[in-house]
Amino acid sequence: MEKRELLYEGKAKKLYKTDDKNLLIAEFKDDLTAFNAQKKGSEDGKGAINCQISANLFKLLEENGIKTHLVETLDKNNQLVKKVDIIPIEVVVRNTATGSLSKRLGIEDGKVLPFTLVEFYYKEDDLNDPIICSQHALLMGLVEKREQLEELVEKGKKINEVLKEFFVKRRLNLVDFKVEFGIDRDGEIILSDEISPDSCRFWDMDTNEKMDKDRFRQGLGSVKVAYEEVLNRILEEK
Ligand code: TMP
Repeated sequence: MEKRELLYEGKAKKLYKTDDKNLLIAEFKDDLTAFNAQKKGSEDGKGAINCQISANLFKLLEENGIKTHLVETLDKNNQLVKKVDIIPIEVVVRNTATGSLSKRLGIEDGKVLPFTLVEFYYKEDDLNDPIICSQHALLMGLVEKREQLEELVEKGKKINEVLKEFFVKRRLNLVDFKVEFGIDRDGEIILSDEISPDSCRFWDMDTNEKMDKDRFRQGLGSVKVAYEEVLNRILEEK
């Protein structure tokens, strides 16, 4: 399958049309951004690592009954994906308090949460992706019905259960992550976008080292070495 015109360029990926109107090609970029692109950088090979990480995790999730947009990996930076209508809600799932949760509510950084927290953020750069509640999502028409929001929460929790167990075996603590969903041509809600160290927080369970984009956000050094380590652990047979 070949790339046709560029449909959309985001901060970490480009989406291209193909000859099939139901399929797109997602190209993973080496660019890194933080704080709504106020901080910018790039590391050679980052896109290829994330492309592989995300493909492996999406396959794992498919094996566990979670439908995704992934059709196949084409080469090191490119995936063939189903075209969906993206729901403009970032679903953030948290196991441990850190980041904006600790900042907003004063919950101690590193505190293990008593239950899995699922939050919605409105995906709108001009507004800085604000946190929203279900009623906001409904009154802005981000989804058609309340049940779809419940489905997002259920899918977020299911993804968390599968990934948490997978990463514990690899000595990585899945602290939190962000996922995006889209509606496919059958009207089903499926996992889209990516799951990678750009969109998750992983803390090494033995050293507590941050193995994710917080390295870039907080100026802790190269991300690539850490992302490669995450990929190697994903590829370990357990
Ligand atoms: P936060 O603590 O900054 O709200 O981030 C929660 C999770 O969401 C964390 O794993 C990083 C991820 N995330 C994104 O993928 N994109 C974003 O734009 C933001 C702000 C967070």
